Amino acid sequence: MRTAALLLLLAASSSWATEPAEADYMLNCQGCHLPDGSGFPSRQVPDLRNQMGRFLSVPGGREFLVQVPGSAQTALNDADLARLLNWMLLRFSAAQLPVYFQPYTAAEVGPLRKQPLARVSEVRSELLERIAHQEQVQLGGLTSTTNR
Ligand code: HEC
Repeated sequence: MRTAALLLLLAASSSWATEPAEADYMLNCQGCHLPDGSGFPSRQVPDLRNQMGRFLSVPGGREFLVQVPGSAQTALNDADLARLLNWMLLRFSAAQLPVYFQPYTAAEVGPLRKQPLARVSEVRSELLERIAHQEQVQLGGLTSTTNR
C-alpha cells in the first residue's frame, strides 16, 4: 500500500518535472541526439552541446535549424516544433545564443520546414565555416581593442 502511494507520488512528480517540450524531445529526437544532446558524432549525429546556438549568429543558420530533416520532417506541428527548438537551444547551448535571440514561432517555422535542404551536409559545413570565420573576426576585434 505504502509502496503504491510512493510510486504514484513519484509518477506525479516526474510528470510535473517534464516540460511539454522536453517530452517532445524525448519521444522524437533523443533516440539519435541522446538525452544530453551529445549525439553520435562518429555516426554523423552532431553534438548539439555548446554548438546549436552558434548557428543563429550566421546568415542561413536560423533557417538551417528548422530545415534540417530531423526538425522539418518530425510529426510535431509547427507550434510544437518552434517550442521544441527554443527549448533545445536553451537546454544545450544557452551560452552561445546571440544576445538578440528571438525565439522561434509557429509562423516562422511553418513555411521554412516546407523548403527542405537539398544537400544537408554541404549546407552544414558551409555554415560551420561561416561560424568559424565569424568567431575569428570577433577574436581579432577583441585582440585589436586590447592592444590599443
Ligand atoms: C534518425 C536520427 C535523428 C533523429 C530522430 C533526429 N535527428 Fe536531428 N540530426 C540528425 C543528423 C544525422 C543530423 C546532422 C544533419 C543531417 O545530416 O541531417 C541532425 C541535425 C540536427 C540539427 C542541426 C544541428 C547541427 O549541428 O547540424 C537540429 C537542430 C536537429 N537535428 C533537430 C532535431 C529535432 C528537433 C529532432 C526531433 C524532432 C531530431 N533532430 C531528430 C539525426 C536525427
